[in-house]
Formats: sequence, structure tokens, C-alpha cells
Amino acid sequence: MTTKKIALLGSTGSIGRQTLEVVRQFPDQLEIVALAAGSNELLLSQQIAEFRPSFVSAECNLERLPGFTHVCGRGVEGLLTAATLPEVDIVVVATSGHAAILPTLRAIEHGKTIALANKEAIVCAGAIIIPEARRRGVEIRPVDSEHSAIWQCLHGFEAGADVACITLTASGGPFLNRPLDQLAHVTVDQALAHPNWNMGNKITIDSATLMNKGLEVIEAHWLFNVPFEQIEVVMHPQSVVHSLVSFRDGSVLAQFGVHDMRLPIQYALTYPERVPAPHLALELGTLGTLEFCKPDLERFPSLAIARQAGISGGTYPAVLSGADEVAVRAFM
Ligand SMILES: NC(=O)c1ccc[n+]([C@@H]2O[C@H](COP(=O)([O-])OP(=O)(O)OC[C@H]3O[C@@H](n4cnc5c(N)ncnc54)[C@H](OP(=O)(O)O)[C@@H]3O)[C@@H](O)[C@H]2O)c1
Repeated sequence: MTTKKIALLGSTGSIGRQTLEVVRQFPDQLEIVALAAGSNELLLSQQIAEFRPSFVSAECNLERLPGFTHVCGRGVEGLLTAATLPEVDIVVVATSGHAAILPTLRAIEHGKTIALANKEAIVCAGAIIIPEARRRGVEIRPVDSEHSAIWQCLHGFEAGADVACITLTASGGPFLNRPLDQLAHVTVDQALAHPNWNMGNKITIDSATLMNKGLEVIEAHWLFNVPFEQIEVVMHPQSVVHSLVSFRDGSVLAQFGVHDMRLPIQYALTYPERVPAPHLALELGTLGTLEFCKPDLERFPSLAIARQAGISGGTYPAVLSGADEVAVRAFM
């Protein structure tokens, strides 16, 4: 594999840090040339010292960053510069929230391969971003574990023609079995205690309400060009099967793996090659029982609300996403 030059947007976040762990494993194949973060000055300083990018963008005091010899940017302009540097091959979009929309679009316009973790960009602006990527022949490689799973199951198939249904799995988060009359009184700490995944706060709260899964339904619609009535959600508390594709002949392909985001991150960076990652191996013999059941829409009404917003189209998904961001902030 030739060395891939990477711009990492959101380097100080959960996905950003795990992306750097993957890059650390493959120093000959992956190289960081740009880092973009928000206000976590201390961590960004450490990342700059270790990865020595040629460009850095941040919301913090750039003069205080070590070796202030890098070319630096700030705000949206900084993100846009990082995403469009001529030497960049892959832009990892791991900035949280709506700040990712414009850099994703600009990176596509500059022909960069996108490794997409952020979901707000596709949920809010899928109708703009996806046609632009298709028009320019730009690859969008999903990093979200469910969409990475579907992407992998679809290799070699033309989505639409042979696909009967896409099934996204949902762990159910910390409140899967909590009595309904207690849900109005849960605390932030309880909502942040996800049983399987260690993620940023916003997506963890969204996972507790299943709004995250609702956003993923909209994301899947755009990424795989599949109508909403062919996208299902199934509860799977063990988070071992990351998603499934059912074909019209009755065959079902699923992707299994440990619940560790480094796996889909690594695949998005090394695709089409699969490079060894022994620490991510799945031991089927020790797994025990895998469970699947239908989602309870009384417990998780946001799943139906998100699906309806997706079907309504237009600006509904953007309004949904904005309202969700405000609601999560208010809850926190
Ligand atoms: N975490 C997961 O396992 C996971 C899985 C699937 C999908 N995703 C998606 O990936 C995205 C990132 O999730 P995360 O969990 O990694 O979030 P996170 O831990 O909250 O990290 C967010 C990152 O974005 C940066 N950032 C936020 N606002 C910014 C702005 N206005 N300008 C520049 N940088 C900004 C933060 O910088 P500072 O911290 O320096 O302020 C941080 O580096 C989200 O869209 C999420 O839905 C995450």
C-alpha cells in the first residue's frame, strides 16, 4: 500500500483519538498531514508534537501550541483549508455536529476520498453532498460501524437491484430494559453509561434515546441509495453483528466484529486492503448468546420521529438534527 496522506478533522475527539491510534500502528502506510480540533489545547499540543502535521487548525490560542512553525488556521476557514490541502488523499471527518458539513462538501469538490464518521453532514445535507460525490466520482467510506458493516456486505453488489432490505443493529443503550415509568428521571451519568461503546457525549446520549439510530437510518438512505421502507432497525444488545443486508433471493449477509471503532476506522483508511489487527480479533467461542428483537417504539419514540423526518425530506432532517443537538445540550 502506498502511503496515504490524511487530514484529520476532530483529532481531539473520541473518533479522532482512535484514528491516531490506527495511524500509530501503520506508520509506513498512513501519514497525518493536517490536524483540526476545537478547544482541547493540551491534547492537540501532544498530537502536534507526535505527528508533526504541516497544517493545524484549532479554536484555541494557536500561538500557545508547541513549535508554532506550522501553518495554522481557525474556525470554518481552518477546517476548509485542512480538508482541501493539495497533498491530502483522505479526509477523516470526525468533527462533531454541523461544523462538518461545509468541510465535507469542499473536500469532495477537491476530489478527496472521505472517511466519514460525522453523521450530521449526511443527515442535514445528504441531498447536496451525495450527488456531488457521485458526480465527481469521489468515494465516501463510512466509519460509523453500522454503515461500515453495510458497505462491507454490499461489496460486489449494486445496491438497489439485488437488495431487499438493510438492517441496522442497535444495542439499545443503558435504558433498554429500564421500567418505562423511570425514564423521565434518568440522570446524565446514567445516560452516558453505554454498555458497549465508549464514545463522545452527544452520540452517547443519542444512543440512549435511539435518536442516534434514527439519524443512522437517514444516513443509510443517502449513503446506499436505498428507500426508507427498505431500511429496518433491530435491537441487538451485544453489538457484535454491526448490521446486515438481506438480498432478494433470501440470503442475508452480516458483518461481525468486536465493538471497537478502530476496526471500521482502519478499514476506511486502508480499503481495499485488509491489514492485520490482531488486537481486534473476535473470539466467537466466548461470545455466548446473540439476541435480536424488534425495537419498542413506545420506549424509543425518536426512532419513528427520525424516520418520518427522513421520509418527509427537504429541511426536515436538518431541523430534526438541530432540535436534537439543542435537546441533548439542555439535558446535559
Ligand atoms: N465516537 C464514536 O464512537 C462515533 C461512532 C460513530 C459516529 N460518530 C460520529 O462522529 C462524530 C464525532 O464523534 P465523537 O464521539 O468523536 O465526538 P467528540 O468526542 O465530541 O469529538 C468531537 C471533535 O470535534 C471537535 N469539534 C467540535 N466542534 C468543533 C468546531 N466547531 N470546530 C472544530 N472542531 C470542532 C472537537 O474538538 P475539541 O474537543 O478540541 O473541542 C473534537 O475534536 C459525530 O458526528 C458522531 O456522531 C462517533
